[in-house]
Amino acid sequence: MKLLAHPYLSQIENYVPGKAKLGSQKVIKLSSNENALGASPRAVEAYKNHGEKIFRYADGSCTDLREALACKNKISSERIVCGAGSDEIIALLTQAFAGAGDEIIYSEHGFLMYPISALRVGAKPVKVKEKNLCADVDALLAAITPKTKIIFLANPNNPTGSYLSKSEIDRLIAGIPKNILLVLDHAYEEFVDAVDYPNAIELVNKYENVVVTRTFSKIYGLASLRIGWCYSSSYIAEILNKIRGPFNVGGPAQAAAVAALGDEEFLQASKAHNQKWLKIFFDELAGHSKIKAWPSVANFILLDFGSAEKCQKMNQKLLDEGIILREMSGYGLQNCMRATVGTDEENLKLLILTQICR
Ligand SMILES: Cc1ncc(COP(=O)(O)O)c(C=O)c1O
Repeated sequence: MKLLAHPYLSQIENYVPGKAKLGSQKVIKLSSNENALGASPRAVEAYKNHGEKIFRYADGSCTDLREALACKNKISSERIVCGAGSDEIIALLTQAFAGAGDEIIYSEHGFLMYPISALRVGAKPVKVKEKNLCADVDALLAAITPKTKIIFLANPNNPTGSYLSKSEIDRLIAGIPKNILLVLDHAYEEFVDAVDYPNAIELVNKYENVVVTRTFSKIYGLASLRIGWCYSSSYIAEILNKIRGPFNVGGPAQAAAVAALGDEEFLQASKAHNQKWLKIFFDELAGHSKIKAWPSVANFILLDFGSAEKCQKMNQKLLDEGIILREMSGYGLQNCMRATVGTDEENLKLLILTQICR
């Protein structure tokens, strides 16, 4: 007799992370939406100081971190659950609220961990068409069936960089039956500078079926430590605490995250750097005859080269120069690559190379 895992697991196409290396060549890695400025020096210090304590199990309840998050966001720490990256939170929510035969809705170019998480529990990922590379509220609502259990929405979305305004999110929530969970994935929230961007905390306070997920991997620069969190109703938090591992977030990650939260200066510098470069990229690429830059409010830009062939050529040219962007065929965007905003020097090099190709 052969050992067999759940048959539905064979449908999963493994998540392919952004490339990090090109042999031994020194590279400019703009493929994973990491913070161009690195991590807060205070977070790095806290991480190092934790070195002598790594033989101890960490606080399984992330008490200090949840308190710090509660204080910063003026919410109850009881309704915060931390995870090994928001990826883990996405997986836990899926495990808690969906199973074999259920449906999970996500937008056409939504973050790939949504369909992967659905398939892991035997649920069917339902991909819903976008309009102009932006989630379409009417289409999302029209896709709801009696089998729908969760709707995942990244706002802003990775890899498109587009976002839904407060009024669009209000309209979405109004149309969703209260027995369906809406997960607002705000991994890039801190980068957003738009007056009509929704306040997800307020929405969670108002609606029991809405959860917001957040991460320390992006603007806080702690991607390698794997730490994220969510804010939800007490009921959802209680369920997640039942099914998560008892020590799912390591001690160094908790210590670094608490310190990172206290470094407002680093946060503001990171946001300002990103705003500056988004503007430069859009100004410089406006009217480019061969590259369309899709509008973005996050720390990355989707670049459209017009055809898969041209995109591959450009990719090779950039790789030859040691610049790694994120290939997009996994997202059904064969003509495109996603560029993370890098350091001044990295961005200039990328811009010069794209300008040469006019
Ligand atoms: C939209 C979105 N959500 C969630 C994540 C997962 O982030 P992490 O697991 O590092 O918190 C990412 C990472 O790229 C993302 O782009």
